[in-house]
Amino acid sequence: MLKKTLIAASAISLSAFAFTACGSDSAGGDATASDDGSITMGFAQVGAESGWRTANTTSIQDSAKEAGIDLKFTDAQGKQENQIQAIRSYIQQKVDVIAFSPVVETGWDAVLNEAKAAGIPVILTDRAVDSKDTSLYKTFLGSDFVVEGQKAGQWVVDNADEADTDGDGKINVVQLEGTTGAAPAIDRGEGFADSISADPSIKVVASQTGDFTRDGGKQVMESFLQSGDHIDVLFAQNDDMGLGAIEAIEAAGLTPGKDIKIITVDAVHDGMQALSDGKINFIVECSPLLGPQLMDLAKKVLDGEEVEPRILTEETTFDQAQATEALPDRQY
Ligand code: AHR
Repeated sequence: MLKKTLIAASAISLSAFAFTACGSDSAGGDATASDDGSITMGFAQVGAESGWRTANTTSIQDSAKEAGIDLKFTDAQGKQENQIQAIRSYIQQKVDVIAFSPVVETGWDAVLNEAKAAGIPVILTDRAVDSKDTSLYKTFLGSDFVVEGQKAGQWVVDNADEADTDGDGKINVVQLEGTTGAAPAIDRGEGFADSISADPSIKVVASQTGDFTRDGGKQVMESFLQSGDHIDVLFAQNDDMGLGAIEAIEAAGLTPGKDIKIITVDAVHDGMQALSDGKINFIVECSPLLGPQLMDLAKKVLDGEEVEPRILTEETTFDQAQATEALPDRQY
């Protein structure tokens, strides 16, 4: 995919003539901060679907305050059309910079071209867009979701004996996918499939979206359990879906973490607690604390500094002992 082969970003040149309100120039050149040096950022958030998202929103709001950036914030309630509407309204309001975490990967070219024509730089955070035109955004700050999926799958490969909970030599995995069409759902699925392909005894026998929510995870896990087939492993593409699934597993009279091994992604507080309690077996971290880096990047972009086209967040993984140790200091 093109987004994974980002070409080097062209240097951001500070136009001597870009001085109109909030720094936008009508010819579609690069923007600067407002004349008085203040910066207004329009941020279009995905929604509030998970603990991760709540922590991400707090990080962005707190960091904007700390950086002295005036933040206009919208919650798109999981709908791409709402995000597009929010971005259009930021363009109309002539904000200095737009940042957003796209609900889904595709369908952004039209609105991003409008931002470009208005001379308003766009920064992607958390999730990528799938567009051939990488000039539509200045940089993309976030995790490598493919690597996250690979780490999750590698745990099953490395712990195959333990993961074969009925000892029949086959490891049946069920997968709870994130929002259909969203970068983390696509990439984590790809990464997981890639790692488990090393061991032919490991198979994904069912895979369905739980939309990154607890309720979604619970409902889909109930239907997986009703199929009657033995499930050795659950890969939930985020903690919230895993936590919902735990409720379904317990309601079915099974012990999460023992009868069904559970791997999740995120490492939010509730997920880490479940890992420490032995209900989850392994968590791949995905950091939501993107706010400070985002505010720095916005300032750099508006100062005309060159920024890297892809900025990766540093992340780790947790087993039970590591979760117990990390929990007291967990910020989210
Ligand atoms: O885009 C990041 C993902 O979105 C998180 O893993 C998930 O919890 C959230 O909803």
